[in-house]
Amino acid sequence: MTKNWQHGFYKRSAQERRNLVKQMCALSDEQFATLENQATSLGDQLVENYVTDYHLPEGLLVGLVVNGREYTMPMVTEEPSVIAAASNGSQRVAQSGGFHASAEPRSLVGQVVLTNIDDYDALATWLSEHEETILTVANDAHPSMKRRGAGAKGLRVRIEPPFLSLDLLVDVSEAMGANSVNTMAEAVGAWLRKQGYTVLTAILSNLATESLQTVTCQVDPAHLATSDMTGPQVARRIALMSDLAQVDVYRAATHNKGIMNGIDALVLASGNDWRAIEAGAHAYAARDGHYRGLATWQVDGDRLVGRLTLPMPVGVVGGSIKTTPQSNTNYQISQIKSAQELAGVIAAAGLAQNLAALRALATSGIQAGHMKLQYRSLALSVGATIAEVPRLTKRLAQLSHVDRQVASDILAQIRKETNDGRREN
Ligand code: HMG
Repeated sequence: MTKNWQHGFYKRSAQERRNLVKQMCALSDEQFATLENQATSLGDQLVENYVTDYHLPEGLLVGLVVNGREYTMPMVTEEPSVIAAASNGSQRVAQSGGFHASAEPRSLVGQVVLTNIDDYDALATWLSEHEETILTVANDAHPSMKRRGAGAKGLRVRIEPPFLSLDLLVDVSEAMGANSVNTMAEAVGAWLRKQGYTVLTAILSNLATESLQTVTCQVDPAHLATSDMTGPQVARRIALMSDLAQVDVYRAATHNKGIMNGIDALVLASGNDWRAIEAGAHAYAARDGHYRGLATWQVDGDRLVGRLTLPMPVGVVGGSIKTTPQSNTNYQISQIKSAQELAGVIAAAGLAQNLAALRALATSGIQAGHMKLQYRSLALSVGATIAEVPRLTKRLAQLSHVDRQVASDILAQIRKETNDGRREN
């Protein structure tokens, strides 16, 4: 590819970009048709250098009970078995009364970082003496938020030489709020510059410690039993898996990946920024200097008690929320009305996801359930047509060992049988 076709790519229309990509990247007619068929005018308004929309599957998490209410939650993910596992975990918890989600006040943190400081304590004192003025500067930058009773409510100073971070604590009400907080932080930064201070940067922090969401559940082990293990045995093994994720960073990363399987899928379906939630979750998991599992499970008397706390600064308005027809429809399906409700339900889905994964890992192993559901995407990846998938997955499910080569061989065998059958007719 030559360099000059990329120069000014953003100034072209989406149609021109697709034509150019076809030519420069040697797309087949079929590949070009995919770009054409999936393109939307809305997508072109949302991102830069737009060529087409990228589709991901959406399924429904059913039977999730939080604070006594049953939810049906859209999940967007490409990974087989994630939605099945979330539903599985939710159902087991629902049989024991469901999840409890805490309701706590939530704020976002906007950082205004100062440097070139002679006396940190003197600066901290000066900032606290000017708290009222600083909050007014912040709120004047976003008056509509103040009118709704939200806005910048407090300040915090953190000293990390050679820096001092002035943290603006902003109540963003029902919104995702990132842009509003950035506007406020920049206004405060500009004001501090005028007072003669050196401001390095002003930006929202994704470690949303002022928007923590906690969910808990108490599971009756009877609902965890398998054909080989009693409920209490499974509960004890799940608790041990949880202990392992507190001390072994390799296991902690996978434990948390499993939780984020559910959380990301709900966040994406709700139109919120899943990268922000991911970043906050992992930073919070390492808050004491050691990266640990976010969810914990303990046997307490005759119950398995699960708990998950993580930053969950989601909104139900603003940003890209409800800008796509899909995200809009998802709110009709979920009937979620407030940011707090959404945060609790998302965290509950993460804990349900973790329970299902740990139950599988602590009993039959992940491959038994996960791989069976993976067979459909394996079948497609070795070239099966939609019509061939059921026959191929049925054959694969009867085997003790399955991989790409095996799937490919069986597909060839199925095609041969079909052709032989046709010839005989
Ligand atoms: P099962 O126990 O064989 O399911 O689970 P079941 O047939 O007894 O059905 C019980 C319930 O599970 C169903 O209730 C459904 O709610 C749900 P019902 O509707 O019958 O009243 N369920 C399903 N929902 C939708 N589609 C399905 C389906 N099957 C059951 N096909 C299952 C089978 C795969 C769910 C189970 O083995 C499981 O949860 N496995 C864990 C799978 C998983 O975590 N997948 C994520 C990918 S692996 C990963 O990335 C994370 C990991 O590494 C994290 C970690 O290490 O911690 C594992």
